[in-house]
Amino acid sequence: MPPLPRVLCSSDVAPAQAATATTPAPGLGLLGCGTVGSGVARRLLASHPGLIRGIAVRDPSKPRDVDWDDFSDDAFDVVDDPSVRVVVECIGGLGLARELILRAIARGKDVVTANKDLIATEGPWLAAFAARTGASLRYEAAVGGAIPIVRALGGALAGEDVLEIGGVLNGTTNFILDAMEMGADYGEALEEAQRLGFAESDPRSDVDGHDAAHKLAILAGLAFRRPSVSRFVGRRGIAGISAADVQTGAQRGLRLKLLAVARRAGDEVEAGVTPAYVPEDHPFARARGAENVVRVLGRGCGPLVFSGAGAGGDATASSVVADVLAALESRERVPAHAGEDLVVRSLRAPVLVRYADGRVTMGDAVALDALVTETVKASVDPSVASIIPVWRDAA
Ligand code: NDP
Ligand code: HSE
Repeated sequence: MPPLPRVLCSSDVAPAQAATATTPAPGLGLLGCGTVGSGVARRLLASHPGLIRGIAVRDPSKPRDVDWDDFSDDAFDVVDDPSVRVVVECIGGLGLARELILRAIARGKDVVTANKDLIATEGPWLAAFAARTGASLRYEAAVGGAIPIVRALGGALAGEDVLEIGGVLNGTTNFILDAMEMGADYGEALEEAQRLGFAESDPRSDVDGHDAAHKLAILAGLAFRRPSVSRFVGRRGIAGISAADVQTGAQRGLRLKLLAVARRAGDEVEAGVTPAYVPEDHPFARARGAENVVRVLGRGCGPLVFSGAGAGGDATASSVVADVLAALESRERVPAHAGEDLVVRSLRAPVLVRYADGRVTMGDAVALDALVTETVKASVDPSVASIIPVWRDAA
């Protein structure tokens, strides 16, 4: 884990003060009011009038479906507002969002974020920094949209010996693969996912598997109780998937899904993100549109399946608002695990090989990191059209 930040001087670090009978109720500052932020704003303006003290956006003149007439273009101002005790970050990315979260933590404020890129990259030491300043860091919305999987792992499953965790963790790619099954074109389906607010601002994060890898790293850290970052997770996206791949599966009772899974293998953890064929009756196969499915296999609890809306403003806002309420009531912190970072090796799975002449064969289990891009594959054996893993659950 890298050292804690030195970008802020110690005078910046001020633990949150306890409210007294004479101090006003703590307020909330919202950073970003796009797909997710506007959902959060609409819900809190309706359910908790007066709670929101400031909303920062890039362009205050942009028309928005939110009943607020004083948008700020200075997000640092909103963080620094002394009446703001809870900072909700819905901007995204690793630049400005990171600076704002650091600033809020340094001031001992409670932070709620939907930013999986940041949590999967720097979450462990941000949590350690928060522990030092009396701040808190909550990120239910970073994984699984409306599905309360972060809470489940940190609470109800906190004592479980998890053997395997993962599933369909990206709504955009599931939406695209689902649409392709019904004959839609890849590019048109992606455009529709963007229009519906499912995709990241740079959709390559979705289709190339980065987003799913971030979410898997977050889940694996919570499930295996070790600091975890996504750079160790190997990934393949869906950009190379063709209509023929989808149809080949359908003819064999298999559906193509982008899976992100981590599992114990002896003393190690195997993890990876890959398109994979899943039997039609498997829980992963039932994800429709932008839904997500997370399966947790525990030694004691057996298989548990969590499913529901995995992307979109309202669904994600539901998780953000739950974290806001937890912060206001000082309950349900996300556990921060210490020790060496979780290092993973490549997930292994048997593969289905499709040849250019239409033949299909099953291949032995391979390490998914060994499955290379279409170009390299073709240079190894030009008769191979695609090599796609076939999912098998751990026992
Ligand atoms: P959007 O692009 O819809 O919204 C981003 C918001 O950030 C906009 O309101 C934008 O302002 C604001 N912003 C950008 N730059 C600045 C700045 N310099 N100062 C202040 N505000 C700024 O993104 P999403 O709502 O889709 O995503 C937000 C976060 O939530 C990301 O981390 C994403 O990964 C995560 N997330 C998204 C989900 C989804 O389904 N969309 C689901 C789960 C998590 P303006 O409106 O003026 O442009
Ligand atoms: N772009 C993400 C997805 C948003 O499609 O799953 C939800 O995290």
